[in-house]
Amino acid sequence: MSVFQKLPIALDVANLSPVVTREDVAAKRGDVARALSDLRSGTCPGSDFLGWLDPGRILTCRELADLKDCAESLREQTDVLLVIGIGGSYLGARAVIEALKPVTTPAHEVVYAGHNISSQYIHSLRERLAGKRVAINVISKSGTTTEPAIAFRVMKDLAAEGCIVATTDAEKGALLDLAKSEGYKRFVVPCDIGGRYSVLSAVGLLPIAYAGIDIDELRRGAAECADLCTDPDPLSNPAFYYAAVRDILYRRGIAVELFASFEPRLHYLAEWWKQLFGESQGKDGKGLFPASVDFTTDLHSMGQYIQDGRRILMETFVIAEKGEPATTIPEQSDDSDQLNYLAGKKLDYVNNVAYQATAAAHRDGGVPNMTVTLERIDAYPLGALIYFFEIACAVSGLMLEVNPFDQPGVVAYKNVMFELLGKPGHGEAGIAVTKPDYVTF
Ligand code: PA5
Repeated sequence: MSVFQKLPIALDVANLSPVVTREDVAAKRGDVARALSDLRSGTCPGSDFLGWLDPGRILTCRELADLKDCAESLREQTDVLLVIGIGGSYLGARAVIEALKPVTTPAHEVVYAGHNISSQYIHSLRERLAGKRVAINVISKSGTTTEPAIAFRVMKDLAAEGCIVATTDAEKGALLDLAKSEGYKRFVVPCDIGGRYSVLSAVGLLPIAYAGIDIDELRRGAAECADLCTDPDPLSNPAFYYAAVRDILYRRGIAVELFASFEPRLHYLAEWWKQLFGESQGKDGKGLFPASVDFTTDLHSMGQYIQDGRRILMETFVIAEKGEPATTIPEQSDDSDQLNYLAGKKLDYVNNVAYQATAAAHRDGGVPNMTVTLERIDAYPLGALIYFFEIACAVSGLMLEVNPFDQPGVVAYKNVMFELLGKPGHGEAGIAVTKPDYVTF
């Protein structure tokens, strides 16, 4: 019998026991209810940034149709889309595209720039794109972020005629001014949605649609999850159960939450998740540090620490029940590699056994863990999962008594960098860069 009921997502909490029980979670009902009520009534800190709460209404029908037309037209005219953005302006799209792009080489590849300032990266990207028909989607809510602005300036000559699209604030910013003066096609980053909650707006959906992924299914998954997130009882809502467990373990001294997956194609989902939780909750001296591991790869490196190092960890696995392409381990007549005991078994089966073994071993090693299980890695469940994490993040952030929608800490390095680079209008940052004090051989 399927574990899934109204949504293709379930939370397995067996490996939290005996550290966190259902009774512990039930005792958090009041806190979850308060947080959810503050969120829904718009009385929480950061209430200007709640546009993501109703994913079905982020885009109007007309905006959605326009976005799909634009993606289709770019697909007809080009072979590759260069997404230029950083943080919330690119991670959501990349998370979904890497998870769902066809296993074989995609016809319409999506590549990325503006998320670093590496000269080598840009150089090899330019070489890789030479001779290809390139579209560019430059994305920046503020329209002034240094990394994507530099990347756009350096890369825009590669774009095919008429194939530059700017996604930016509706009213302000250098990118908006540039887009208007150059006549670029434009999409809007809604003013009431912060970058890390923006994947289901034009920010994420245009690149995702270009990659050939069904954005209607993605949105449907998120909208259906949103509809199920009105009752705050954590015992009947896995997103709120997850939020409550994070809060319980944090208050008991756990410092790090590991996002662990056994599918390499979920690597960027973990990157998106880290930004979502790190930027939303890491403030005022509080918050679980969000980290991620790719298993089984990292079991051969980080596995030692997780099993046996300082006991400050909790772990959240994300796995899929089915849907991966089948590979069967063949029989070999001489059994020289001693693997015939697995002959005829599917790799998926072995991977799943590895997951079960890891979760059990980590639990016994003192790492309480839970597992978000998707029915399969597809647009509809993934849309639901995105919303699951967004609302869990907002609710657990409010339980932590922080503003989950601001990011005051990210300006500190920028101010120092601007001072050093001599950006006009920027004075002293008040943070001194120390002279190097080398220890040498
Ligand atoms: O979540 C956020 O708000 C940030 O990660 C931003 O998305 C990131 O800094 C990029 O900002 P912008 O879209 O203004 O270029």
